[in-house]
Amino acid sequence: MDGASQPPPPKTCAIDVNDGAKTLHVPPGKTLFEVLNDADIHLPTICGGRGKCGRCRLTVLSGADEPTDAEKKHLSADQLKAGLRLGCQVKVNRDLAIRVPEEVLQARPFRAKLESVRDLTHDIKRFRFELTEPQRIEFIPGRYIKLHLPKAVDPSGASRAFSIASPPSEARRVELIVRLHPDGTCTNWMFNDLQAGQEVRFDGPYGQFGLTDGDAEMIWIAGGSGMSAFWSILRHLAEMKNFSRPTTLYFGAVARRDLYLQEELRGYEKQLNWFTYVPALSQPAEGDAWEGQLGLVTDVAARRLENVANVEAYLCGPPGMIDAGLAMLHAKGLGQERIFFDKFEHR
Ligand SMILES: Cc1cc2nc3c(=O)[nH]c(=O)nc-3n(C[C@H](O)[C@H](O)[C@H](O)COP(=O)(O)OP(=O)(O)OC[C@H]3O[C@@H](n4cnc5c(N)ncnc54)[C@H](O)[C@@H]3O)c2cc1C
Ligand code: FES
Repeated sequence: MDGASQPPPPKTCAIDVNDGAKTLHVPPGKTLFEVLNDADIHLPTICGGRGKCGRCRLTVLSGADEPTDAEKKHLSADQLKAGLRLGCQVKVNRDLAIRVPEEVLQARPFRAKLESVRDLTHDIKRFRFELTEPQRIEFIPGRYIKLHLPKAVDPSGASRAFSIASPPSEARRVELIVRLHPDGTCTNWMFNDLQAGQEVRFDGPYGQFGLTDGDAEMIWIAGGSGMSAFWSILRHLAEMKNFSRPTTLYFGAVARRDLYLQEELRGYEKQLNWFTYVPALSQPAEGDAWEGQLGLVTDVAARRLENVANVEAYLCGPPGMIDAGLAMLHAKGLGQERIFFDKFEHR
């Protein structure tokens, strides 16, 4: 075939999202999953774009190549015929028109001012912000925001993700539970320089972490500042009078000094007959006088988890804990489709 008759590859491809709600202009070559992520449009994922989880579904109205084997595995012939595709499998090679769930597009910029800071442990603080513009936020509990670093702290204008710790009913505020990283740019700025009354900017809400609306028993596993999303979800559920799914929150800490919100969580345990709180210490300090669960939180959960037939698992926290939790849950026979997590990865 004469190469000269081939049309030259386009320099940029236009991606029309949800009938003109957004239009992206991107160079060809990446996957839809990647270019949408770059534009802060986050498709659901468990496998991180590797074609394994089948979560990153969206509708491609025009411009896609033939489905890959991974798509044929996760989607039926009828779904593919209707345009349903996996974002991580669709290469951007020409102009595309796509539809993503409305919620995925909801994120917007906010201004807020720091109202108060409360010490939760020696290295975790709760930051409470009052929204100034706009003055209300709507979100599904479990979502996160991206807090912008001031240019004086990071000239590139980078941002960091933080789960929203407050419930949606407190629509005029956003609370964050933040753990100090000793060398961390953002957390050092928040812990050492950010003053009450100071203005901050963030975008959100983002993410897909949140409860399904099924009726399976739930286990929640959190470590460190990973309590944040569950603190939002728990307070939201406590406000719903008819919630009844049996739920156990496993919280992992090293020693007693790393536990926080103890009184509040014990209070909810008394108030809500469907909620159980199980803190676990991996290395109690001398003098901790600890009579509760001992060991890594994922091992503690494993010891207590007998039958996974009607269980959903939710995990939130540092990457090591999430990976250990996933291995444990898979070994117990819990299917990937019933495991949901937010990994506090550096990204
Ligand atoms: C979806 C999501 C939700 C998150 N929610 C929260 C939250 O609610 N509370 C919270 O405290 N944090 C949360 N994080 C982590 C947060 O976004 C930052 O990564 C973290 O606060 C460190 O930022 P920093 O600027 O202080 O550190 P940086 O300056 O970015 O990093 C300093 C050093 O620490 C290392 N590092 C940074 N973060 C991590 C990490 N998570 N694991 C391992 N090494 C790391 C870096 O490699 C680097 O060496 C979340 C992350 C994600 C992706
Ligand atoms: S992100 Fe997992 S299949 Fe696409």
